[in-house]
This record gives sequence, structure tokens and C-alpha cells, in this order.
Amino acid sequence: MTASRSTLRCHDANCRKRYELSEVIYSCATCGSLLEVFNSFDGVEGSGLRELWQERRLSRRRIDVSGVWRFREMLPFVTDERHIVTLPEGNTPLFEAPAAAAYAGLDGLQFKHQGYNPTASFKDNGMTAGVTQARVLGMQRVACVSTGNTSASMAAYAAAADMQAVIFLPAGKIAYGKLAQALEYGALTIQVEANFDRILALVRELAVALGIYVLNSVNPFRIEGQKSIVIEMLEQRGWRVPDWIVLPGGNLGNISALGKGLRELRQLGLIDSLPRVAVIQAEGSAPFHAQFRDGGELRAVRKPETLATAIRIGDPVSWRKAAFEVGTVHGVVESVTEQEIADAKAVIGRCGIGCEPASAATLAGIRKLVKAGAVKASAEVAAILTGHLLKDPDYVYRYHSGQLETPSGQPIRATFGNAPITVGHDRGRIAELLERYARPA
Ligand code: F0G
Repeated sequence: MTASRSTLRCHDANCRKRYELSEVIYSCATCGSLLEVFNSFDGVEGSGLRELWQERRLSRRRIDVSGVWRFREMLPFVTDERHIVTLPEGNTPLFEAPAAAAYAGLDGLQFKHQGYNPTASFKDNGMTAGVTQARVLGMQRVACVSTGNTSASMAAYAAAADMQAVIFLPAGKIAYGKLAQALEYGALTIQVEANFDRILALVRELAVALGIYVLNSVNPFRIEGQKSIVIEMLEQRGWRVPDWIVLPGGNLGNISALGKGLRELRQLGLIDSLPRVAVIQAEGSAPFHAQFRDGGELRAVRKPETLATAIRIGDPVSWRKAAFEVGTVHGVVESVTEQEIADAKAVIGRCGIGCEPASAATLAGIRKLVKAGAVKASAEVAAILTGHLLKDPDYVYRYHSGQLETPSGQPIRATFGNAPITVGHDRGRIAELLERYARPA
């Protein structure tokens, strides 16, 4: 691998202070804004990259097998490939989903499913880069606060790199599948009686004091890794840019990565236009939607609520980066109700695809935007499903059996419910049931 052509840089256009890649720092010492990895692509021939990346699909080298490091010309911060920690990640499918398209009122719809990653969420695309940088820096301990997926991912990559993972979780507010992963991968797991935003502020302080590397999305290297989601999606589309890319928004790292990835792809000449982007939040945790609608500074939601616990965040740390990316592509931010998320999720399930609740906010949001006329029925739309169906089986069971309630205790209708049927060991009774539920030919 070549000499690095990257530096750390303050994201604020009025500051732009630079830092060495080797510094353990997440926000600007001068102005406090988040940092980004600034990549100089001088001398990189964009025109040859499509073929090079395609050829690597035939290779068995571990850095070519990864759906992140296969695109390593766009992550030029690693100079020695022996540092790379890969499980491997990425290489996730892009599905056509006609039934979901019909539900949303679109002619067609694609889902890029990041739940097909090693720990079953999009976090793995970023975590491979974040833990690799931790290894470059010689860190022994990594930490994060998480609504569940970041912690599951970090625990796995830290285990693979033989580092200690310390994870902080909002007590009682993460889906069981995610907690189970963290425990199994051996992370030191600390449940704190506070919400995500308050714990993150504490962990950022503690980590500096204790010399622990923070792998939340304040970490700019994680953002670099997550760019690969949109790179791979466009490669799968034969580099045809869709009209819209839609994704859920929580702490807003993913939209920041998506926007940066798109801008860099255009800079390299791999695409010649930018898609519009829609970020969808859950109504009870939608500070970015309010900021988009009202302008000005983001006003934190003090008590964020949603059953889509992955995006139960009231004070998204990357909102300025996200606002910049949304503005660049003339994007929109929307919010959806618990009922809309639950029904959209079941529809995605009926496509044979499935996802966790936060991911389903995409389909609910698209449906709302189509109804409002903001997205045309004929538009080419690709949505990112961020996590796997089995991350939150409790939600699934409650929905289908008509027991799901909003955080304030309102019942959620099982519009597409599919409750299991219990029956005695009785041939006649079972035959009768099959008859009753037979599909018309
Ligand atoms: N979807 C899922 C499944 C998530 O786990 C998250 C974030 C998001 C969407 C939102 O992404 O924060 O980049 O805007 N989960 C984080 C976590 C916060 O701790 O796992 P974002």
C-alpha cells in the first residue's frame, strides 16, 4: 500500500484546522467541531478504478474479499495492510422489492441490505476502519456508547483484533439480539441508567482521561469505512445514480458518510451527478427533522422515545455534518410515526427481506414523501436497510400477535399481523385450518 494521502481536518469551513492522522482526537481543539479525514486524491486515476475494483472480486486476498477494503483507494489513510482488521464486511445485496414499491406508491424500489454484514448491521462497514485505526495507533482498549448495533460490531472487531471492548448501553433500552452479541463477543458491558446522549457526553470525557479510543461515529475513521456502503451500491447499479437514496437517521453518522462518499466519487469522476437524499427519523426522536423544517441550530429532544431503539437519539452528535450533506444534495428530512414504521417493517418482511424497526423508517418515509408529491412514482429510489430482522425479535412477535404498544402506551394495529396458531394434535382440525387459510390459486 502507498504513503497516506490523508490528514485530519476540522469539518467547519471557517476553521479547517489540520491535525496529524496519528493524533487521538475527535473534535477540533480550536473550535470544537467534529473532525473529518481529508483525502487528497491527487494522482489517483478515477477512470481505472471501476475495473480494478471489479477485478478484485476474483481475488482471495483478505483485503480484496472485504467490501470495504476492496475500495481502498477511497480510504487512503492505511499505509500498511497488516494493520487491517476485517471479518470480512460489506458485499451486501441490493434487492428489488416490488411489493414494497407498490406499498410506497413507486414503480420500483431497491433495498441495499446492510443487515447481511458479519454482525448484521451497517456498523461493520465503519467498524473495520475504526478498529484498524485503533491498531495503527497501538490502542489496547476501545469504547463506545450504543443503542446496540455499534456495540455489537465493536465487540466483534475488538475481539478479532485482540483488544478490550468497553461498551456503555442505555439500561433496558436496547434490543436483546444486540445485547446478546456484545456479551458473546466478550465485551465489558456496562448498562447506565441514562439515555444515549447523556452517556455519550460522559464517555467522550472519560475516554480522554483514561486513554481509551472512542469508536462512536464521532470517530472520523468510522465515517470513512461507511462511505463504502454507497460506493458498493453504485457499483451494483452499474454506476447509474438513482434519483433518491433514503436512509434512517439517529446520531447522523451514516448520512455524513453517505454524503462524503458521494462527493468523493464525483470528485474522482466515478459518477457525474449526485442523487437527492432523504433522511427519515422516528417522530418521538426527530430533532434533525425539526432543524431541517425550522432552520437555525439543532434543538435537542430531551426525552427521545421510539420503539425503533436504534434511533432513539435526541441530540445527534453529527448534525452539522449531516446538515451540510443534506444541503449539498438538496435532500430532505422527514419523520414517521410508530404505526407507520411497524407496518412498513411488516411489508419489508413480506418481500422475504425483513429488517429491524429503524431500517423500516425508510419505507415509511418514502411512502409519506410519495403521497406528498415530493418523490415521483417514476423516481428511481434506493433505500438502505441498516440492520437485520433478528436484531429485535421481541418487537416482531409483539407486532404480529397484536401486542405492540407505542412508548406512551397506545396500541399499534397489527395491519399486516401474522399471529401463530396453536392447535391440538388433531389431523382433522389441522386439515380444516389448511383449507381455511388456503390461498386462492
Ligand atoms: N439504523 C440502525 C439499525 C442503527 O443501529 C442506527 C444507529 C441507525 C439506523 C442510525 O444511524 O446514527 O448513523 O444516523 N445506531 C447507533 C448505535 C447509534 O449505537 O448502534 P446514524
